Amino acid sequence: MQRLISLAALVLFTLSACNSSPEDDRPGQPVKHRQEAFKVLLRAFEPIGTMLHDESFDAERLASLNTALAQAREAPWAYFGPDTDYPPSKSRPEVWSQPERFEAERQRFFAATDALAAATGREAVEAAYREARASCKTCHDAFRR
Ligand code: HEC
Repeated sequence: MQRLISLAALVLFTLSACNSSPEDDRPGQPVKHRQEAFKVLLRAFEPIGTMLHDESFDAERLASLNTALAQAREAPWAYFGPDTDYPPSKSRPEVWSQPERFEAERQRFFAATDALAAATGREAVEAAYREARASCKTCHDAFRR
């Protein structure tokens, strides 16, 4: 029985892997590049939250994560060119139909990550981190599927 269950789980897993998004097969692979750039952004951002959560606050580590974040936050946007709304994109068409709103979300995110980089002391960093996370979320709610 146990074996059957794990076999079923394996089949399901394999099916879902096959179902996953298609490769970006267009010249320059802009969708793939922006998705990868967002992953790099996440890898700089998330550990700050983990550090705050674990009570392992470390100003030096924070400074190096903020440096990585400052770099990573620049990367995704150049890959949102015209005609880049095709699978495997998870962007909503509003990215292109409401560019001012998208830009406003982007500016909010830049301001929030500036404030995070400037914050000192655990409590201020925690508050700034929450704001920055909220700026990821409001953009995702409006512009990501
Ligand atoms: C101005 C809008 C905006 C902001 C701000 C933003 N994102 Fe996103 N993010 C998007 C959009 C749009 C996508 C979908 C990209 C696509 O698939 O075309 C996305 C996708 C992602 C993905 C998925 C990448 C993949 O492989 O599909 C991750 C992870 C992510 N964002 C993390 C973050 C984090 C972390 C922050 C904040 C620190 C953030 N984003 C801020 C718009 C934004």
